[in-house]
Amino acid sequence: MALQHDVLLFLCFFPFANSLYKQWIPDTNFENATNWDKGSIPCGSDQVVFLAHRKVSVYVETAHAITGMNLPMDGEFILTSGAGFSVRDGGDPGCGSGITAQFKDCESLKWFDPSLWVAATTVEDLHRGTYKFSVHEESVPCWFDDVVFQEATSFRVDVSSNHDVNVKSISVLGKKFTSNSEFSNFLSSGSGKLQFHGSSSLNIGGAGCSDNTGCVCGNSVNRDKICANVTCESLGCRKPLLPVGHCCHVCGAIANVQFSSDFNFESYRQRLQHLFLSMHKYESIQLAMSKVLQEQRLLGVIPFGSSQEIQVLLLDQNMGQDAGKLAEALARDIAKDVHNHGSNLGISAVEFKASSGASSSDAAGNSAGLVASAVLGSLLVVSLLAVITVLYRRGIVKLPRMPRIPSLSKWKNSSDIGELGGPMDQGFVNPMFDKPTMMPVEPGLYRTETVNSIALTQSGVHFVNPVYDESDFNS
Ligand SMILES: *[C@@H]1O[C@H](CO)[C@@H](O)[C@H](O)[C@H]1NC(C)=O
Ligand SMILES: *[C@@H]1O[C@H](CO)[C@@H](O)[C@H](O)[C@H]1NC(C)=O
Repeated sequence: MALQHDVLLFLCFFPFANSLYKQWIPDTNFENATNWDKGSIPCGSDQVVFLAHRKVSVYVETAHAITGMNLPMDGEFILTSGAGFSVRDGGDPGCGSGITAQFKDCESLKWFDPSLWVAATTVEDLHRGTYKFSVHEESVPCWFDDVVFQEATSFRVDVSSNHDVNVKSISVLGKKFTSNSEFSNFLSSGSGKLQFHGSSSLNIGGAGCSDNTGCVCGNSVNRDKICANVTCESLGCRKPLLPVGHCCHVCGAIANVQFSSDFNFESYRQRLQHLFLSMHKYESIQLAMSKVLQEQRLLGVIPFGSSQEIQVLLLDQNMGQDAGKLAEALARDIAKDVHNHGSNLGISAVEFKASSGASSSDAAGNSAGLVASAVLGSLLVVSLLAVITVLYRRGIVKLPRMPRIPSLSKWKNSSDIGELGGPMDQGFVNPMFDKPTMMPVEPGLYRTETVNSIALTQSGVHFVNPVYDESDFNS
């Protein structure tokens, strides 16, 4: 009964569904060695060079002695108290190479690159580095997520997309923006323009996800952008799986959970964490849980709609022959848990498939009825088609002439339905999935930005100091 107790506790702690905190990784800080071509912070006899035709906001935390500095077309230094630059004639032979130290080009870092984000359930977890694994589409912020740009960092992110980008909140330099008007003010400020660029409009202040059973992330409209720079590994397992929302096939297991209105997304995630992932044998497993739209297919071919379900993706770190075996064992344990406790958890059924080729159809408990009716339905359709085919072949039944509508021409082509399972799967259009999304294409928020809005000269450097000049964001 201790378990039930835990679940109740979780319900109290996590009233709000599956929203996460998503933190942008790369920064443009002066003191981050990875931002310099020589791999270390410039000092002493170094000549500091910013690419001339770039715009950049650079956070500086300490005082630096350097030999000289080439400044970019447009930029700002965000100086904390005590930070600054002094130019030392002749340089300091004790430090630096005596040549140039060039700041890296941050122009191509994209909001939709899933490798540039980490996710966690709380801000504390972000600080601790306790990150959540997600499918690629959900590594990038969803409309209900809180976005965090780490405190005490500057950054530059390209938010280009054909769609509006919506999130619940955005934190920049320790200030959390939750209203869109406030954030637009920031975006039109000098810092805002240097840190966010690109063609789409970035909106915040959505209500967030208030559905306890979780919300669908909706990033599939940007799937092309999200997957553009993902490299998939070559896989050793027999039947690699393609999880919904992921860019790559994987070795592992996927459990698909059917839920009722009593289901609580976050408490179930906690349950899996505490019941299974904390076990020694499963500690290497990566688990990504999301609410997804699953296409319903008759005979595995004919789509007839979509339903929401919870996808639990399980990956292990094993390679070669063993890849996915441990994940499969966990999927079986999860199915067993649902079989025993599902009704208390608001779960009506679970199915899993593994990259070994195994699936839950043999071990189906709750879903036996569902499977049986699906099989029965399939048999009915098959026999119906067979009868029609025979009658058609014998000339007893004639197909009506098809009107020449483009979308139906494929039907005509495949009127040779004698070859079941052949070209049949190509002719169906599922309105749920194939309709182009009618999102307005916003005119660029940033196009109007004036070049050289902040002049950087050797004599005077404009800077925004977040410690002393908070009003700069709101003005
Ligand atoms: C420096 O930048 C890299 C990548 O941009 C990031 O992973 C790392 O955490 C940063 N280092 C520090 C100390 O913030
Ligand atoms: C992403 O991929 C495109 C084309 O596939 C390539 O041109 C670009 O350099 C890549 N960007 C990064 C940051 O890897």
